[in-house]
Amino acid sequence: MNKRVAIIGAGPCGLSQLRAFQQAESNGADIPELVCFERQSDWGGLWHYTWRTGLDEHGEPVHCSMYRYLWTNGPKECLEFGDYSFEEHFGKPIPSFPPYAVLNNYILGRAAKSDVRRYVRFSTAVRDVSYSEASGRFTVRSTDLNAQTDQEEEFDHVIVATGHFSVPNVPSFPGIDRFPGRVLHAHDFRDALEFKGKRLLIVGGSYSAEDIALQNLKYGAASVTCTYRSGAMGFKWPEGIEELPLVTKFEGNTAHFSDGSTREIDVVILCTGYKHHFPFMEDSLRLRTHNRLWPPGLYKGVVWIDNPKLAYLGMQDQYYTFSMFDAQAWYVRDVILGRIALPSREEMEKDAVAWLAREEALEDPIQDIDYQTDYCKDLAAVTDYEMDWDVQSDNFKHWEHHKEEDITGYRDHSHTSPVTGVTAPVHHTRWWEALDDSLETFMDTR
Ligand SMILES: Cc1cc2nc3c(=O)[nH]c(=O)nc-3n(C[C@H](O)[C@H](O)[C@H](O)COP(=O)(O)OP(=O)(O)OC[C@H]3O[C@@H](n4cnc5c(N)ncnc54)[C@H](O)[C@@H]3O)c2cc1C
Ligand SMILES: NC(=O)c1ccc[n+]([C@@H]2O[C@H](COP(=O)([O-])OP(=O)(O)OC[C@H]3O[C@@H](n4cnc5c(N)ncnc54)[C@H](OP(=O)(O)O)[C@@H]3O)[C@@H](O)[C@H]2O)c1
Repeated sequence: MNKRVAIIGAGPCGLSQLRAFQQAESNGADIPELVCFERQSDWGGLWHYTWRTGLDEHGEPVHCSMYRYLWTNGPKECLEFGDYSFEEHFGKPIPSFPPYAVLNNYILGRAAKSDVRRYVRFSTAVRDVSYSEASGRFTVRSTDLNAQTDQEEEFDHVIVATGHFSVPNVPSFPGIDRFPGRVLHAHDFRDALEFKGKRLLIVGGSYSAEDIALQNLKYGAASVTCTYRSGAMGFKWPEGIEELPLVTKFEGNTAHFSDGSTREIDVVILCTGYKHHFPFMEDSLRLRTHNRLWPPGLYKGVVWIDNPKLAYLGMQDQYYTFSMFDAQAWYVRDVILGRIALPSREEMEKDAVAWLAREEALEDPIQDIDYQTDYCKDLAAVTDYEMDWDVQSDNFKHWEHHKEEDITGYRDHSHTSPVTGVTAPVHHTRWWEALDDSLETFMDTR
């Protein structure tokens, strides 16, 4: 096959795409030439932790939003790869909620086993992607950040796998410019010990707010006030965490809230989400969406309807992660290999509009989970990707229930592997008491 395929990003999505092609090749398929561009010096995407914030050593934006002491917030059994179990990687069953170093080790284990590093150009940032109707090809301009040289190349397909939890959404509030303490976005949060003994205000009502609030209290913050725009998270919080409606202004250290209450605050952490940000894509190829389960304009959630030679991976809000990325990557691979014939533009639009309408009618997390399960099943049904989606879905529903019951205790539960059928062992230390996030301590299953 003499096609060339550009994959932008070597995070979990980009690595799923490389593995999908490599699996087809190992089964005898003729695959295209693959070039995976990765701006960081190593792979793993968000899971490649760095202490850096702001700009990196090359003056590029730091991609990492990961922080120390981050334990996965969903069961590992809900993100397990269909073709590479945790048990295969670690040689034994491990508990359900590992810290990030363990997950990163697992992601990289499959990538290394499938020998796909040879396709990745590290420290290479994609600057722009354009499409020529005349040639029917894309031009990709990239910068080798070490050599500081630019290169332009042509490709038949482009797959965007650059993630969407890296460019912070940063709202402003009256008086925040004169707030006398530290103000930061979750993207720049690295170590809760910095805030030991401090009174924190956390803005936002989703996963980052929940996790950063709990983590700071766990590591010694004096108090945590969460402030929400749409609705309270409503968990049974431990003593020391409270929720108030939206902050309206700051006067010195005093934060004022829309219900008239005030709190004295030392630090503000904006857990206000991220932007889908693709400045390197030409206008007509650029996905524009907020964080939702069905980003518009994509057939099967991946194929750019306006130009099906372009695909985006992992752009959905995520209950499912790695296994959904696999399902998407296997699908995109089979479109490129000609194993899946795309329908007419009208049919693609009709299908995408139907999924969008269904998404807009969703009312609660359980319905969300069923919806994303159906989506994954829909994709996997037409490829050879194998996964027991019903087991993953059941795990998600148990997890939701455990969170409602006990927000500091849900990570102490065990879930069932959709790949091996084995129920995870209980960890040696309750999450609320576990302070050491190293792989070595986690794996010590005394
Ligand atoms: C704080 C945090 C915690 C999370 N925790 C969990 C969790 O516990 N469990 C879970 O399942 N999911 C979690 N997630 C969700 C996360 O989105 C996925 O796990 C996963 O990292 C998404 O993979 P990705 O490949 O789409 O994107 P990323 O992991 O963001 O990878 C994108 C890659 O693209 C590269 N890139 C970007 N722009 C360019 C460019 N112009 N040129 C070249 N390369 C580029 C980046 O350097 C990066 O390596 C978390 C997210 C955040 C922010
Ligand atoms: N331990 C972990 O594994 C862990 C930890 C942290 C994050 N994550 C992952 O990271 C991803 C991103 O989560 P996220 O919470 O950062 O983003 P998110 O889920 O997109 O939520 C963004 C939040 O910001 C709020 N917000 C946006 N603009 C605001 C404004 N102007 N004023 C007040 N609030 C505003 C939103 O409120 P509205 O509801 O009003 O829109 C929403 O609550 C998720 O996939 C999550 O699972 C995982």
